[in-house]
Amino acid sequence: MKTTELAKGIYSVGAVDWDVRDFHGYSTYKGTTYNSFLVIDKKVTLFDTVKHSHKDELIRNISAIIDPQKIDYIVVNHVEMDHSGSLPDMIEIAKPEKIFCSQMGKNAIIDHFHEEDWPFEVVKSGTEISLGKRTVQFIETRMLHWPDSMFSFIKEDGILFSSDAFGQHYATSERFDDESDLSEVMKESAKYYANILYLFAPLIRKLLKSVEEMNLGIKMIAPDHGVIWRTHIDKILEAYDNWSQNKADNRALVIYDSMWHSTEKMAHAVAAGVEDAGLRTKLINLKVHHRSDVMTDVLTANTIILGCSTLNNGLLPRMAGFLMYMRGFKPTNKFGASFGSFGWSGEAVKLMNKALEDMKIDVIEEGFRVKYVPDTAHFDQCIEMGRRIGKRVLESGK
Ligand code: FEO
Repeated sequence: MKTTELAKGIYSVGAVDWDVRDFHGYSTYKGTTYNSFLVIDKKVTLFDTVKHSHKDELIRNISAIIDPQKIDYIVVNHVEMDHSGSLPDMIEIAKPEKIFCSQMGKNAIIDHFHEEDWPFEVVKSGTEISLGKRTVQFIETRMLHWPDSMFSFIKEDGILFSSDAFGQHYATSERFDDESDLSEVMKESAKYYANILYLFAPLIRKLLKSVEEMNLGIKMIAPDHGVIWRTHIDKILEAYDNWSQNKADNRALVIYDSMWHSTEKMAHAVAAGVEDAGLRTKLINLKVHHRSDVMTDVLTANTIILGCSTLNNGLLPRMAGFLMYMRGFKPTNKFGASFGSFGWSGEAVKLMNKALEDMKIDVIEEGFRVKYVPDTAHFDQCIEMGRRIGKRVLESGK
């Protein structure tokens, strides 16, 4: 990543990771960036670092602007290793006068690096520090998405360093939203929200409200991943407002895995029935769709129909893994149903319905099972099931 000046004396100095394709289970087909920001003032200050694998790029970028030994302060907005992995190296080089972080941040830094004597300075929401010409205001964003998380706001320039919030796993040579393909940026923002922040919707609502009440005069939102928002700030704030209200479209996802194609054929018939009722639908075969892409669809669809064969009195592993993953995000405000083929015991449908109920998804069909291979009458029943679901969803006005 080349360095980019966000405002006079404020630089993006992080790294682009063009190659990463897995981020703790989240598929990152478009790579990512680890953003880090340098402010040149009376107190030279670095906001967050980068994943350890990219520390040389960070040091090179800082060195293109100033000798890294001249850094006075380091602000740790978030301790997850993609942002703190190079912290020990930067501390070794810069020997900073102070490291600013939340109390939970201090605890997490010690738990990660086991260095209790670093010069920590704990800050809280509302704490302000002067860098010289500029003032930094801290806003704790506990559990968004770690207990330590916080934002830093440069008051004079209206720049919000927002940590993971409003980020995207999206590797580009462009640094700003208006230099990039906005539809791609929004797609990656939705995927990021669905796979990192979905669980914390109530906290996000509170945060959006309190940031609005603070009337900060934000001119730029600089997240720790992806492009920086300067032209389309309203668009990303509106998207977070919608996502955090769990607003979803009238759309059914038929998510399935199949052993010998029987459940697959049922899935196609159910989807045909849903479509016939006038409800938009999408067929998602877990053999070819990554769970993190499926979660992105789950974010904005109001109906989840699951199909799975029974294997060893349970579910096929892909469906079991997907449900485990989805359950962690607690998706709400949705309809659900299940179907599947079986040979002798046939527990899959019951297990899927139970998983949906555990997620507080409104299960609107008992579940339809077919022994071994479906015949024409079974397909008609699948189509009918799809029609009933489609009609019910459209009539609900949800
Ligand atoms: Fe990008 Fe929570 O780390």
